[in-house]
Amino acid sequence: MPSDVEFINVSKVFASYLAVDDISFTIPQGSFFSLLGPSGCGKTTTLRMTSGLEWPDAGKIRIAGHDMRSVAAYSRPTNMVFQRWALFPHMTVAQNVAFGLEVDRRPRAEIRKRVSEALALVDLLPFAERKPRQLSGGQMQRVALARALVKQPKVLLLDEPLGALDLKLRMQMQLELKRIQREVGTTFMYVTHDQGEALTMSDQIAVMNKGKIEQLDSPQAIYDRPATRFVASFIGNTNLVPVEVLEASGGTARVAIGPLQFSARTGAFSGGSVGTVSIRYERIRIGAEAANRDTRTRGMIKDTIFSGSAVLYVVELEGSGVQITIEVPHDGTSSPLHAGSAVDIGWDGGATTVFDNG
Ligand SMILES: Nc1ncnc2c1ncn2[C@@H]1O[C@H](COP(=O)(O)OP(=O)(O)OP(=O)(O)O)[C@@H](O)[C@H]1O
Ligand SMILES: [Mg+2]
Repeated sequence: MPSDVEFINVSKVFASYLAVDDISFTIPQGSFFSLLGPSGCGKTTTLRMTSGLEWPDAGKIRIAGHDMRSVAAYSRPTNMVFQRWALFPHMTVAQNVAFGLEVDRRPRAEIRKRVSEALALVDLLPFAERKPRQLSGGQMQRVALARALVKQPKVLLLDEPLGALDLKLRMQMQLELKRIQREVGTTFMYVTHDQGEALTMSDQIAVMNKGKIEQLDSPQAIYDRPATRFVASFIGNTNLVPVEVLEASGGTARVAIGPLQFSARTGAFSGGSVGTVSIRYERIRIGAEAANRDTRTRGMIKDTIFSGSAVLYVVELEGSGVQITIEVPHDGTSSPLHAGSAVDIGWDGGATTVFDNG
């Protein structure tokens, strides 16, 4: 698979602040690639370096095989969709989408054809003659997308494009964006701080923290096999519990929480007798479901939190007093267990990962 975007040891410094710290990655042609991380971790800066709005202080950026060192933003085969869509209010939807092609002085007939195709792609053909103020937020977002795609960039850069939408619409648009990306086959480089969004849409996710990429993997690998403590805690809901490490070799470790001993896979663990184990809320079983699991123990329910689709239990482990949170899907037939109940709990080997403390 040829690559569309390559970063090779790229760094960016603002004044004396290292915003992007020696990152390398490759985005295969036609894939959906997300940069995911908390506010200030360097996502937008990475995107802006791709588009040529910002220049790296070290390292190399290639797009479609070409070194971008001396290529200005307007000559790059990229196009950007922003969080604030910046549509021209006095122009119709069709005119907004046509704008970039008009600037390029494309022939009339070609513009008409390409605008229709772009509007069809985002399901907005019937809205072609409306003004932006006559559209919903989701529709405006799709106009912005059509406007970027109509120019047929090799790489589409999207900086939190769904950030201004409410949750329900955002989830609809996630599926829509993924469909559009598949349909046009354009490489998408997508920035978000929303893990659910990245997991839903991406072929590959680069998880960033403090200017560095901590893990670059498929959504499932990022979720199931977090490489670092930061990745484990940033994505999904997990218990981070201090453990004694009895022995570690070949990617697994024998660990102990008080009297409870079990095996866990190792992530970023550099050895030693202590560490932190990550146990995802929903990988822990409770009651009858705990039977036959690799690791089993008893606990006391301290708190029960009903959230509609699931029930969260805060459980104190027997023998250590350590409290962990467990998420159980709510099936609507059984009622949640009460605080004060003693329960069996259990989980399987693959559900836990050990990291260095810190
Ligand atoms: N032009 C600039 N001058 C100085 N510092 C900057 C500039 N642009 C960004 N920074 C700093 O670089 C760091 C990374 O910024 P960046 O915008 O890439 O973060 P981000 O991951 O996109 O965050 P957010 O999720 O809040 O958008 C931040 O600490 C930011 O304050
Ligand atoms: Mg940003």
